[in-house]
Amino acid sequence: MTDNDQPTRSRSAGTYTLVIIAIVAVGMIFFLGTEPSDMEEPDKLVSNAEPTKVSDPAAAAVLNVSTANIRDGVYTNAQARRGDKLYAEHCSLCHLPSMTGKEPAPELAGDLFMSKWTGQSVGDLFIRIATTMPVSNPGLLTEKQYADLVAVLLQANNFPAGAEEIEVDQDYMDGIKIQMN
Ligand code: HEC
Repeated sequence: MTDNDQPTRSRSAGTYTLVIIAIVAVGMIFFLGTEPSDMEEPDKLVSNAEPTKVSDPAAAAVLNVSTANIRDGVYTNAQARRGDKLYAEHCSLCHLPSMTGKEPAPELAGDLFMSKWTGQSVGDLFIRIATTMPVSNPGLLTEKQYADLVAVLLQANNFPAGAEEIEVDQDYMDGIKIQMN
């Protein structure tokens, strides 16, 4: 039994190997033969297609949701004025009245601030401030006051005022993405 089986097996294994070699050989000839003209085109197609096709729909979806909210104005002028007073009292010593910051306190208005917070939510900013600021006494202020501070920070970063105040509701605030356009 074993003697009979072995030749059959090794023959079919040998045939298999030959077929694979043949396929690889044909493949290489095809690949080498077409390389010069074909290598450039697929490359171009891929590099053109990726930025536009892959990223656009996702980015558009994110932008539609977030900009609709924050660009409509999610705080009122009155709220920002309250925030401005609180800022002068509790924050400006370290972050400066201009909000440009002073080591080690970072700026709270400008490109650097926006690059850090773009894509995060108003809820993220609220939590950051309410749980860590002012450094010497985190949680010193009420939630409403921290929301007022978020309002003045949004104003300082050129987000428009609107008809409604920032509601002190984590889900609501989490739904507002910080996004310039
Ligand atoms: C005693 C100085 C001091 C005071 C007062 C202070 N901060 Fe800060 N703040 C810092 C420092 C230092 C950092 C960075 C290190 C850290 O997060 O602890 C910071 C970080 C921040 C950040 C994060 C900025 C970013 O983009 O990473 C925000 C927002 C912020 N402060 C807001 C406030 C607000 C609003 C107040 C007033 C309620 C306030 N801070 C009061 C020193 C201060």
